[in-house]
Amino acid sequence: MIHVITSANRGLYREELHEHFRIRHDIYVGERGWKALERADGLERDQFDTDDAIYILGIDGGRVVAGSRLVPTVKPHLLSEIFPHLAAQRGVPRDPAVFEWTRIFVIKERREGRNSGRTAGLVMCGLLEFCLDQGIEALTAIMETWWLPRFHDMGWTLHPLGLPELIDGSWTVAVMMPMNEATLDTTRAFHSITAPVLIQKGPLRPAVTEVLS
Ligand code: COA
Repeated sequence: MIHVITSANRGLYREELHEHFRIRHDIYVGERGWKALERADGLERDQFDTDDAIYILGIDGGRVVAGSRLVPTVKPHLLSEIFPHLAAQRGVPRDPAVFEWTRIFVIKERREGRNSGRTAGLVMCGLLEFCLDQGIEALTAIMETWWLPRFHDMGWTLHPLGLPELIDGSWTVAVMMPMNEATLDTTRAFHSITAPVLIQKGPLRPAVTEVLS
């Protein structure tokens, strides 16, 4: 199932969070070859993994199998600090109801290809459920363009914030994606998911109101 971890319930998920940072290192540094993220401790963590970061993790039998990160756009985030040029046309959104989505991954054994991708689909449904529950109206993301047909197939609306650029050999674009019930419905249908998937354990930190205060 899909779990949400904020600074408020982090104590319940210490081992899983640590494991998730280790998997991120394996995947982003090892597999994807993003050497700028390499760290001696073998844990991929950057300046945006702060107390404000929210993690949506797929955990199966105590094992982390998938993950994703949300960061409020009213705080420093990847688009505002590193890639603002990708939003040259529409500007970098900074809104308490808009979060930046980064670091989606599925461990290799659970990858299934675009047309099934159930584990990835569970993460996306969990993410949508969380956004709707928390009043998050849209996500921004910096994505390689091979994602575009995939989101199209799932019924998502993507608003480009600027023109695509070639980054580390991959065409990459910044987008804003409205979060709404219709998108949750089409994403569930695409992945044959019929019921809510999100588990929220322990004290919760309300995402939008917390950022406002
Ligand atoms: N470049 C181009 N296409 C890619 C790709 C890449 N780096 N990674 C995945 N894809 C495509 C695959 O070709 C596949 O398409 P197909 O089904 O038409 O062949 C589709 O995306 C699904 O990928 P797959 O990995 O088989 O299954 P999945 O849906 O279960 O998982 C990811 C998708 C992206 C979550 C998984 O590949 C992953 O964790 N990758 C490493 C982390 C990553 O790159 N995340 C994105 C940037 S933060």
